[in-house]
Amino acid sequence: MSKFDRLGGDVTSDTCIIGGGIAGLWAAYKLVKAGQKVCVLEAARVASGVTAGSSAILTYAQDIIYTNLIKKHNVETARKYYEDSKDAIIEIKEIVEKEKFKCDFEATNFVLFSNKLKGARQLRKEEKAYRDMGYPILYADVKVELPYKVKKVLKFDDAYQFDPLKLCGELASYITKNGGQIFENTIVKNAPKDNKLIVETDKKHTVTAKNFIVATRFPFIVFPGFYFLKMYQSQNYSIAFKPKRNENICENTTFESVDEKGFEYRRVGENILCDGVRVRTGQKPYKSKYRVLEKHLHRHFGEYKEITRFCAQDCITMDHLPYAGLYSGGAENVFVISGFNKWGMTNSYITSGVVVDMVLGKLAPKAKFKDNIYTPQRNDLFAGIIETIPHIGVVVASFWNRLFRRGPVCSHMGCKLKWNKDEQTWDCPCHGSRFDAKGQIINNPAANPAEVIK
Ligand SMILES: Cc1cc2nc3c(=O)[nH]c(=O)nc-3n(C[C@H](O)[C@H](O)[C@H](O)COP(=O)(O)OP(=O)(O)OC[C@H]3O[C@@H](n4cnc5c(N)ncnc54)[C@H](O)[C@@H]3O)c2cc1C
Ligand code: FES
Repeated sequence: MSKFDRLGGDVTSDTCIIGGGIAGLWAAYKLVKAGQKVCVLEAARVASGVTAGSSAILTYAQDIIYTNLIKKHNVETARKYYEDSKDAIIEIKEIVEKEKFKCDFEATNFVLFSNKLKGARQLRKEEKAYRDMGYPILYADVKVELPYKVKKVLKFDDAYQFDPLKLCGELASYITKNGGQIFENTIVKNAPKDNKLIVETDKKHTVTAKNFIVATRFPFIVFPGFYFLKMYQSQNYSIAFKPKRNENICENTTFESVDEKGFEYRRVGENILCDGVRVRTGQKPYKSKYRVLEKHLHRHFGEYKEITRFCAQDCITMDHLPYAGLYSGGAENVFVISGFNKWGMTNSYITSGVVVDMVLGKLAPKAKFKDNIYTPQRNDLFAGIIETIPHIGVVVASFWNRLFRRGPVCSHMGCKLKWNKDEQTWDCPCHGSRFDAKGQIINNPAANPAEVIK
C-alpha cells in the first residue's frame, strides 16, 4: 500500500474525514465519486487499525443478529438491516468488479453452527427470525465438514470474502488519483468548530471543510455525543496456521460458531485463520487467550504450523445497530460512523452511504429512526438497557479501582488500565483504548499516550 505524508500545511476541502480505516475510505471514495474534494486524516497508517485484523467476510448472516434486532426493536427494523446488508454485499461486489480492484475477492459458503444445546436453541430462534422477516433459510441442518460434532447448522450460499488491506489500498489509490488527499501519522485531538479543525503535527495546521465525518472506530470526541456511555470494545484472538489434519475443512466454506466460547474458521490461501476467545477488552475471563486457541488447534488439527497470531477488537453497541448520522443532536456539520459490532465490512459500507447522503443533501441530517435506523440520536440506551447497566457497572468499578488501587490510568477518561499478558499491552476495560508497554497508543479512543512508568 502507498505511504502518505503527514499533514504539513493548511488544507481546504468540501469534506474532511477523520480516520482512514475501511469506514473512512468508503466515505471518501463515495464523496470523490460524487465530485467532492475530500481529505482523510489518519492517526497512523491507512487501514492499520481493526481493518487490518478483520476476517473480512461479507455476509448478512451475522451470528444471531435478527433474533436480537427483533427483540431490541421490531421485525421491520430487522428486515431493513437485512436488506441493507444484502444490498451492500451486491454493491461492493459490483464496485470491485467495475473498478477492477485487486483484493482476492471470492465467493464462499457461510455456515453458522453450534455444538452446545444453548447455541442450538439460539440458532433455532434465528431460523424463526428469518421466517418472521419473510426470508426463510434454504439450507438448515445440512451436513458440514468440521472436525467435531455439531448440534445445529444454518448454511448460506451467498457470502464473499476478500483481503481487507488490498481493498483499502485500492480505495486509497482511487481517492488520491481522483483529487482526494490522504494524510497519515496525523492524529486529531480536537473537535471541529465553525468549519475549522485545528490539527497539531510538526506545528498547528488548519483544516477547513464544510462537513466533517468522524470514522475513528470509537468516536474520539467525548462531549457532546456521549459515546462513552453507549459503546465498549470487544477483542478476538486469532491464529493463522497450516494444519496437519483436516486441511480441507474450509474449502469454499467459512464457519462461525455462535457459542460464547466458539471458534471461526476461514481459508486464507493454503492456510486457515482460526479466531476465537471473544472477550470485552480489559477483562480477564481466560488465563491465556492464545493458550485456549493453541489447545483447540492441537486437538482438532494435529501438529499445525503457526503462520501468525494477533488480537483485534471492535466497538459493540447496546442495541446491535451501528451508528450513522449527526455526531450529536446539536452538531450541524459533524457526522459519525461507528458501532459495527464486528461486522464492519458491510456496516462500514452501509453507514458511509447514510452520512454521504446527508453531506450531499439527499437525506436530512436530523432524519428520525423511521427514515434512518442508524441515527445516533435513537433511544438505544433504553432499547439495550440489559446491556447498558453492566457496561456502566464496568466503568464505575474501573474508576473505583483507580481511586483506591494505584496503577496506570487511561488517557481517554481516566479508567484504570489492565495489563494484558498475551499481548504485552495495557488495555482499558471502559472503552477499549490500548497502549504498549511504554504507554504509546495502539487503539483509540485515547488520543494521548498513557503514563505507565514514572
Ligand atoms: C477479529 C475480528 C474479525 C472481524 N471479522 C469481520 C468479518 O469477517 N466481517 C465483517 O463484516 N466485519 C468483521 N470485523 C469487523 C470489522 O473488521 C470492523 O468493523 C472494521 O474493520 C472497522 O473499520 P473502521 O474503519 O471503523 O475501524 P479501523 O480500521 O480501526 O479504522 C479507524 C482508523 O481511525 C484512526 N484513528 C483513530 N483515532 C484517530 C484520531 N483521533 N485521529 C485520526 N485518526 C484516528 C485509526 O488509526 C484507524 O486507522 C471483524 C473485527 C474483528 C475484531
Ligand atoms: S478508553 Fe475510555 S477511559 Fe479508557
